Amino acid sequence: MISKSIQSCKEAIYRDLHQCRSGTFKLFAGIDYDTFCRQAHPDFSPVGWHLGHIAYTEDLWLLQRCAGLKPVFPKYHQLFAADILPKKERVYLPTLEEVECYLNSVRKQVLHYLEVAPIDEQERLWRFIIQHESQHCETVAFVLQMQRKKEGRHDTDLDTDTRINSLQHRGIKQQKFPMPNAQFPMPNARCPITDSPVIEIPGGEFYMGSDAAEALDNERSRHLCYLEAYSIDRYPVTCRQYRDFMESGGYKNPDWWSADGWKWLQSHLVDRPLYWSENPAFNNHPVCGVSWYEAEAYCNFTGKRLPSEAEWEKAASWDAKNQTYRIYPWGEEPPNGSLCNHGNNIANTSPVDAFPKGASAIGCCDMLGNVWEWTASTFDAYPGFESYPYRGYSQAYFDGEHRVLKGGSWATFPQALRSSFRNWYYPGVRQIIAGFRCAK
Ligand code: AVJ
Ligand code: FE
Repeated sequence: MISKSIQSCKEAIYRDLHQCRSGTFKLFAGIDYDTFCRQAHPDFSPVGWHLGHIAYTEDLWLLQRCAGLKPVFPKYHQLFAADILPKKERVYLPTLEEVECYLNSVRKQVLHYLEVAPIDEQERLWRFIIQHESQHCETVAFVLQMQRKKEGRHDTDLDTDTRINSLQHRGIKQQKFPMPNAQFPMPNARCPITDSPVIEIPGGEFYMGSDAAEALDNERSRHLCYLEAYSIDRYPVTCRQYRDFMESGGYKNPDWWSADGWKWLQSHLVDRPLYWSENPAFNNHPVCGVSWYEAEAYCNFTGKRLPSEAEWEKAASWDAKNQTYRIYPWGEEPPNGSLCNHGNNIANTSPVDAFPKGASAIGCCDMLGNVWEWTASTFDAYPGFESYPYRGYSQAYFDGEHRVLKGGSWATFPQALRSSFRNWYYPGVRQIIAGFRCAK
């Protein structure tokens, strides 16, 4: 009995390692060396660095720390460790082929080790490693989007063929910069439009966080949380809605901005979201590429506010009728292409009402995937928090400055997609694939 469950745990990990890695390679398919090494923005490393760092981290934790092996390529330590080189010095990289060879060499030994590893003691670490790779791949996806944007090639066409034709027309080789392969057509199913756009949630307790094997240190421990009654929007804020704010002079009116937000705005001088498109085809897509300050200002403009992370999570995961907690808004079934927009399936935002099957028990739509959603909460420890596997993963960021984002985006891999997952960034960051929804 026990050995059978160990075997099935190893098989599940084997599958996820493999599934995650094919998503990784797909992101890098056809990328040229210049794109691989280039720093798109001073706050982010080149995409090629992320790829090497994925191999480095897998080697460090599974082969060195667990299996007691020597580093597979010691020469890469200095370059690919998390905290040695400043980001601007991470541009001198081996080729994609060399880094792939590094990944493959580590992975080969990891799969050998998996056969003998005491998985009952190590499951959490293996699950961490898979999610570590997933998260770096999300960064790769938005850094590539940023580079496309910089080169004037940010997608405003939903139709890939039109986009490729226009690139060719402008003399840009499409191979240089492939969009991650979109496997699914843009969905256009609709949630019933008769549903109220605002959902009332009665006061009461619910369970927040997770103790499951895949839960990261910052999701633990699962705990009861009481919330007063509140309301939350059924959908994230759309581009059409956000345009009202822009056209009403929202970026010029200090009334809507907090003191910190206004200060941020004065030093950044932006007048639209980073990933803004004038194409009306995006009207019903969530606004994307806003800082926390812009989200806050929009909420003030509409007389609403951002939800706390607890309010967000209750709306996503609490099934009041059955008094149970759902892993995903729709239930326990793992994410797939008909439940939400994730894993680079579409490689772009999608209409906020495109996934009625993915709605939560209370009826909130688009909670997982599409865009991350800023919350009002600062990133902090839950009761019973213990750093894992190292202090620098979460604890180093409990500084009262970082804000929590929930829900994942179109680039989030399925292994890092669940209602309890917490992401965090400084409130001024707008390069991530983030929007928000309002509460009251
Ligand atoms: C949680 C996404 C902010 O990418 O900086 C990866 C995740 N930590 N390697 C990041 C992470 C260490 C982290 N975020
Ligand atoms: Fe990392």
